[in-house]
Amino acid sequence: MRVLVVGSGGREHALVEVLAQSPRVEEIFAAPGNPGMAQLAELVDIPADDLISLRNFARAAGIDLTVVGPESPLIGGIAEAFWGAGLKIFGPSRAAARIEGSKVFAKELMRHAGVPTARFEAFDQMPAALAHLRSIPPGDGYPIVVKVDGIAAGKGVTVAGSYEEAESAVRAAFAGTFGAAGERVLVEEYLMGREASVFALTDGRNILPFVPAQDYKRVYDGGEGPNTGGMGAYSPTMWMDPVTYAAILEEIVTPIVHQLALIGAPYTGLLYAGIMVTDEGPKALEFNCRFGDPRDPGFVAPDGDGPPGSARSVRGRGHRGAGDLLVHRKDRLRRPRLRGLPRFVFGR
Ligand SMILES: Nc1ncnc2c1ncn2[C@@H]1O[C@H](COP(=O)(O)OP(=O)(O)OP(=O)(O)O)[C@@H](O)[C@H]1O
Ligand SMILES: [Mg+2]
Repeated sequence: MRVLVVGSGGREHALVEVLAQSPRVEEIFAAPGNPGMAQLAELVDIPADDLISLRNFARAAGIDLTVVGPESPLIGGIAEAFWGAGLKIFGPSRAAARIEGSKVFAKELMRHAGVPTARFEAFDQMPAALAHLRSIPPGDGYPIVVKVDGIAAGKGVTVAGSYEEAESAVRAAFAGTFGAAGERVLVEEYLMGREASVFALTDGRNILPFVPAQDYKRVYDGGEGPNTGGMGAYSPTMWMDPVTYAAILEEIVTPIVHQLALIGAPYTGLLYAGIMVTDEGPKALEFNCRFGDPRDPGFVAPDGDGPPGSARSVRGRGHRGAGDLLVHRKDRLRRPRLRGLPRFVFGR
């Protein structure tokens, strides 16, 4: 099998290393890749966002499977571009990748699916957002979380301890700091608890969950610095008990996969759920349409000799829908099935 990995970070390096261990993989290409992976993969000088050149390369080079690392090509529709050319690709359609591309979409999806998550309000005008902030009681009402709707490289989220902080986050978003990503803003209830990441492979009907992982979010020793997009991670999350883990799969992951199928945007690929385990049980913080970077592919790789893309998820049957929440399909789809559980010991 000739495999193309799209992306250039530590995540893609990890994917290349995992793929290289498979006896079924003969040759690996990486576009654009990085020098660290050059011993295992042939670097191809095409940026990860140049979807058409990637597709043309894959066709010309006889690539059997493409594995996409970063979110932006997926949100841009790389899966459809490849499927349209009869090429196999690991990753969700553009419609399904909106679960990461738009936090408002993800929230609406959660609401329709009955998934527990933080209460929120969304705004596309600054005055309304500021009026909402002014209605929050100082003191008790804080912290509050301000998020831009679109992707902002991990910088679009502010956990605000005061009205002033929240206001400046709202003003920055509407001033265009994050470009189009900040045209809509969410103001969200702050959830207290322990954070974990849960990953699952799915073809939209079957769900194969992985061992949960946990980020080191704060910079500096002892976690004393500000929150970041993640400074590293470990897995499994030993503190998580099996009941909580089962609840995450049953109450968060499965209904979301089901809901996406119901709206005509079945999810194929790796779904990454950001979870807060609160006193009231696990709640969803967010979803990503890919592995985390740089940490996950190495330690969450499936058992056995299959590369991530050998799962049925690459077949990508469903790429027909626009993913509009209001256009529910009339035919009744069965709830996706959980297939097997990762082998790891809880709570050691
Ligand atoms: N409602 C909330 N309550 C408490 N903390 C939150 C909440 N929402 C987000 N956070 C914190 O902010 C971090 C980033 O939020 P979120 O995951 O929504 O943003 P992101 O930019 O998509 O992140 P990533 O880069 O991990 O995809 C979370 O990992 C969590 O630590
Ligand atoms: Mg995210």
